[in-house]
Amino acid sequence: MKLPLVATLPADSVAAARAELIADVRAGLGHPGPKTLPPKYLYDDVGSALFEAISRLPEYGLTRADERILRSAAPHIVGRLELPVLVAELGSGSGRKTRWILQALARRQETTYFPIDISAAALAQCERELGRLPGVRWIGLERDYSSGVAEVVARRGRDQRVLVLFLGSTIGNFERTEADAFLRQLRRALAPGDALLLGTDLEKPIARLLPAYDDPGGSTAAFNRNLLVRMNRELGADFDPARFEHEVRWSAAERRIEIRLRATSAQRVRIPAADLEVTFAAGEALWTENSHKYAEHEAVEIARRTGFRCEGEWVDREWPFAESLLIAH
Ligand code: TRP
Repeated sequence: MKLPLVATLPADSVAAARAELIADVRAGLGHPGPKTLPPKYLYDDVGSALFEAISRLPEYGLTRADERILRSAAPHIVGRLELPVLVAELGSGSGRKTRWILQALARRQETTYFPIDISAAALAQCERELGRLPGVRWIGLERDYSSGVAEVVARRGRDQRVLVLFLGSTIGNFERTEADAFLRQLRRALAPGDALLLGTDLEKPIARLLPAYDDPGGSTAAFNRNLLVRMNRELGADFDPARFEHEVRWSAAERRIEIRLRATSAQRVRIPAADLEVTFAAGEALWTENSHKYAEHEAVEIARRTGFRCEGEWVDREWPFAESLLIAH
């Protein structure tokens, strides 16, 4: 029996991940001024499961749009790649959408697929979903993006290209300037001819966008509040999640959805592991995420700015969303 391999975090990286969380909590909550935490902390095992639920909400059309594109365009996308390629996916989550690309690739080559995710539970679900596809070797990497990509690049054979999948508009969770910096850094880790399949959620009427991030059943609010509960679980904090409101706004200037947790009353929170006591004024916000929206073909300019060229773009019309194939030059 072929045993699929999950490269879990070594013990010293578990400690390093905790130290990073503590440092980010201190940096984001420990000073006067706006409170904020990096969105990646939303995705612990519980958060990843809650996001899986969000992706099935009727109001949140993004994931289904992405999957429709990948299902119908996978053979065309694969047809534009130089083969053979190793596949690395940034933030695989459950991996459900990725099946279409892997199946199209497996018809052309023996395919090795490295999902890279900081959640072990998400990787386990990805393995159930994609671990046994014929012609696909599944190697999960429990890593953050940059160390995961470095590891995949180090494993490439002499004639192999690398295809990086960055689906689902995760890029939109960076500030626009940070997104460019992230893609430039990714480009530096790659070689000319390597490819990046980049998902971007496109601008659409606010009346459709707001409910996607604030569903009536409260799944998205629970996902957002899980960040507080996570600090309670992992850092011994005493946040009362019921005293924080899930808030969603559209910023026309930044072309993004802004997500916050707003304190409904003045409160003091202890975070022992970070050696921190944080006070919230009534109405004060903790900024948890931005979700930038893009113009059609904006990926062409993003590519130009970051060391890639855009080789093709596929767009879903039902929920405007684009997948763009960028080639490193
Ligand atoms: N990357 C997803 C997005 O921007 C994540 C997401 C969906 C999200 N709903 C959310 C993040 C609510 C925070 C809060 O669409």
